[in-house]
Amino acid sequence: MVRRPVTLPQLQQKKQQGEPITMLTAWDYLWARLLDAAGVDVILVGDSLGMVALGYQTTLPVTLDQMIHHAQAVRRGVSHSFLVCDLPFLSYQESPEQALRSAGRLIKEADVQAVKMEGASPVVQAATRRLVEAGIPVLGHVGLLPQQVHQLGGWRQQGNTPQGADAILADALALAEAGAFGIILEHIPADLAQQITAKLKIPTIGIGAGPHCDGQVLVTADVLGLSPQVPPFAKGYADLATQAIAAFERYCQDVKSRQFP
Ligand code: KIV
Repeated sequence: MVRRPVTLPQLQQKKQQGEPITMLTAWDYLWARLLDAAGVDVILVGDSLGMVALGYQTTLPVTLDQMIHHAQAVRRGVSHSFLVCDLPFLSYQESPEQALRSAGRLIKEADVQAVKMEGASPVVQAATRRLVEAGIPVLGHVGLLPQQVHQLGGWRQQGNTPQGADAILADALALAEAGAFGIILEHIPADLAQQITAKLKIPTIGIGAGPHCDGQVLVTADVLGLSPQVPPFAKGYADLATQAIAAFERYCQDVKSRQFP
């Protein structure tokens, strides 16, 4: 079967037809090629790369230049999946103009197809409008916002009080109204994610938000068993860390014992 590149109308259609959307993160060419080959609908160059590929404790130190560098490598490995890239901390929170300049660099220099911003503050809503008006698709992100981890007091589930749930629902509706093509729902109760998914015409993509979203996303290092710390809602589908260490050990033994070359 000929595989055509994934488009935004197709993602929207998947929501309407109840067909789950698949999304995973990538930070380099190697993994991007394999995700694309596996038929993943959407590849996200997430700023989680700061933690999984650069060794930072949070996503906060990641710069726009670093995102562009990684997105360029990912782009070279992707031919079919729809490619989205995170705008990193403080590359969009100042003003819609700053968001447009940052998103413009990702589009022009790394050829990504859409950008993601966290939260739904008045600036983020205005930035979403500004980018969409300029022809740049925007993916929203509500619930647990890793770029606000210190303000939130840790990587905790959000929306588990009636007020918290109402605020996240209002944020999701506001981003949809501002023109976002989809919304990530991170670490919120499943019934809240179900309510938001039912209310929105655009797709919701959950991470730690239960089974009722229109799609699911995970950090690829967690899926592969490569992360030192995995969030409780993630699911590992391989244990590549153990296999890699065993391979490196065998190589070292072979070299030391002159079995190789
Ligand atoms: O940075 C990231 O990988 C993300 C996903 C967790 C959605 O934002």
